[in-house]
Amino acid sequence: MKPLAEQAPAIHDGAPAGEGARVDSHLAEGETRTLAQDALVGLTRPQKELPPKHFYDARGAALFDRICELPEYYPTRTERSILEERAAELARLTGAVELVELGSGTASKTRVLLDALHHAGTLRRYVPVDVTEALVHECARELPREYSGLRVHGVVGDFERHLDRIPPPEGRRLVVFLGGTIGNFAPSARRRLLARLTRLLSPGDWLLIGADLVKDPHVLEHAYNDSEGVTAEFNRNLLHVLNRELAADFRPADFEHVAFFDRRREWIEMRLRARRAHTVNVGALGMRVRFALGEEIRTEISAKFTRTRLERELAAAALRPARWLSDARELFALTLSQPA
Ligand code: SAH
Ligand code: AVI
Repeated sequence: MKPLAEQAPAIHDGAPAGEGARVDSHLAEGETRTLAQDALVGLTRPQKELPPKHFYDARGAALFDRICELPEYYPTRTERSILEERAAELARLTGAVELVELGSGTASKTRVLLDALHHAGTLRRYVPVDVTEALVHECARELPREYSGLRVHGVVGDFERHLDRIPPPEGRRLVVFLGGTIGNFAPSARRRLLARLTRLLSPGDWLLIGADLVKDPHVLEHAYNDSEGVTAEFNRNLLHVLNRELAADFRPADFEHVAFFDRRREWIEMRLRARRAHTVNVGALGMRVRFALGEEIRTEISAKFTRTRLERELAAAALRPARWLSDARELFALTLSQPA
């Protein structure tokens, strides 16, 4: 695969990666096909469903950024505060020479870790991996300027399909998966992903995963039903993506945002509920999709964890927990582990 600078990317602001930076894209032709496949399968099921990775075009990424600032959405600021408190300890313990980040987004919280590793003098390379091309480019442009001597090798790709494109290690590795994104996978997909993450690690390497914790359902439900309606707009963004990428004619206003905590499965579920019975055309697939009044598309699950469950899942992926870092209210946790 050619470096992105030699390609014509789909979402890209045009500025080439600067000195000390490189970005490889593995999505250029493949991604629209994946969306088409996901829509074909997901919109013809009795319970309609689409995977949450399609939220994140440029607009979806910007809406997610706004979610992170909402008073109701505690995960981002809680994870940041844990990182601020413990980053120096993590840097000392891991001695990481390279930081690989899945779902890096704007790498806003990552800078707390980058600061500590840079200060400790071990860090040489940062490898952000994300489906949102423009954000990987932004990291590649900005971070070498912010951290002298840091090289950035960005990977635009899907971490369920492209983990093998992560460049070979250059030294002691710390892989991070922040924000609670691990919760956006159903249990079987999560098991597969964790097992693949283990394969990115050599003996002595580290994996740091951020996970949202089980708590009062009201607190959880508020976090996904904010008063400004930003989460609702983020949810409906999926319909804008389908309209643009697959020539569909969804009217986003015809769908109501629904988010609730499933107490048995311990996950938040987001759905889009049809406000009227109607039919949508998906031009690129030559498909007509019927919606009954009140029919729903499941658009995201966001699993909430207990320490016991997360550590059991890590063990099943041949990972040995080394540290459990949480806040005083036990809203969110970061778990640091190593290959067993
Ligand atoms: N880590 C950041 C961003 C979390 S939002 C934080 O903690 O705030 C989730 C991020 O994962 C988005 O940037 C999204 O583009 C990316 N993402 C979601 N599914 C993905 C997938 N399958 N492959 C690669 N990136 C994905
Ligand atoms: C990225 N992910 C961890 C977020 C979450 O909370 O599951 C996405 C999100 N969905 C609605 N609000 C935020």
